[in-house]
Amino acid sequence: MADKKDKEPMAASFDITQLMPNHPRYTTIPDALFDVRSTFGLDVDWQVPGFSAEHPNVPTVDPTYQFDHDTTMAILAGFAHNRRVMIQGYHGTGKSTHVEQVAARLNWPCVRINLDSHVSRLDLLGKDMIVLKEGKQITEYKQGLLPWALQNPVALVFDEYDAGRPDVMFVIQRVLESDGRLTLLDQNMVIRPHPAFRLFATANTIGLGDMTGLYHGSQQLNQAQLDRWNILVTLNYLEHDDEVQIMLAKYPDMDTEEGRKDLSAMVHVADLTRQGFMNGDISTVMSPRTVLSWIENTRIFKDRDMAFALSFLNKCDETERPTIAEYYQRCFGVDIGNRGTKAN
Ligand SMILES: Nc1ncnc2c1ncn2[C@@H]1O[C@H](COP(=O)(O)OP(=O)(O)O)[C@@H](O)[C@H]1O
Ligand SMILES: [Mg+2]
Repeated sequence: MADKKDKEPMAASFDITQLMPNHPRYTTIPDALFDVRSTFGLDVDWQVPGFSAEHPNVPTVDPTYQFDHDTTMAILAGFAHNRRVMIQGYHGTGKSTHVEQVAARLNWPCVRINLDSHVSRLDLLGKDMIVLKEGKQITEYKQGLLPWALQNPVALVFDEYDAGRPDVMFVIQRVLESDGRLTLLDQNMVIRPHPAFRLFATANTIGLGDMTGLYHGSQQLNQAQLDRWNILVTLNYLEHDDEVQIMLAKYPDMDTEEGRKDLSAMVHVADLTRQGFMNGDISTVMSPRTVLSWIENTRIFKDRDMAFALSFLNKCDETERPTIAEYYQRCFGVDIGNRGTKAN
């Protein structure tokens, strides 16, 4: 069931045709219901709203994507009931792609802002720019990402939320206030969120600062800020067999006895790096993304050991390479010892 708020009429000043000139007639209010069981493969009787037609900014569907039960339920609650959902977990566990893949299936436009990068307050809010109009220089307000997203049927994802700069977090805090309005002081403008605007965040820590020392640059979020997220869900690395299944779905030609054995060993190396990372033995971890690029590089170079060095080993601190070589030895019985240093 859609939230009651979803039925509110749009702000009178809002004109979607101006923002999306190529899509003059699409609905900006969810107009379809998706069955969770058949759409996401989760064992629940639930229907969630979405759009019947594809909009611009809808992410591309990854047909091999495997939805984690709790995380997906949390994200779906976010879409269906306008809850603010934060997903926390180690990097590479699938936080960002979970939101994207849910959005892809609901045909819900989705925009990601990585707060880890150099996003500034003005990038978010917009700024006055000098433009030339009829031969005269005038200043014109150029809308930032946040006001734009707020006024559209868009799922906005703040990625690496705990790495946001304080000035940026201060801006975001304003949108997190009870009814999500955004006041642009210097523009004399109050922006009301579009009824189909949704807000998500991903973070490596739960905002209590980083006790482990694994995530440099993560900030402590203040309790008031954390309090404004309605749902917090933790996503861990996939089970070994599930991860192998994902890789097999992406590379179906590896689905032979030998291929499965190879893949299992590759995922095992990744598992060992994750354990090592959590124990503080090594500081670089193999995410599923790295495993995928290792597979791809193996295909290019026709040499798995060399591909491993190029995809992962060379990214690791030199003092940690012997530890990683030992993981490799355990899984493949091959000593890649100074492979990485040689390639340098
Ligand atoms: N459940 C999953 N099913 C399929 N692929 C996944 C899954 N989880 C992660 N991946 C893959 O792993 C990579 C990292 O995912 P990402 O969402 O960027 O991680 P995070 O945001 O947690 O750092 C992506 O290439 C993604 O396609
Ligand atoms: Mg991410």
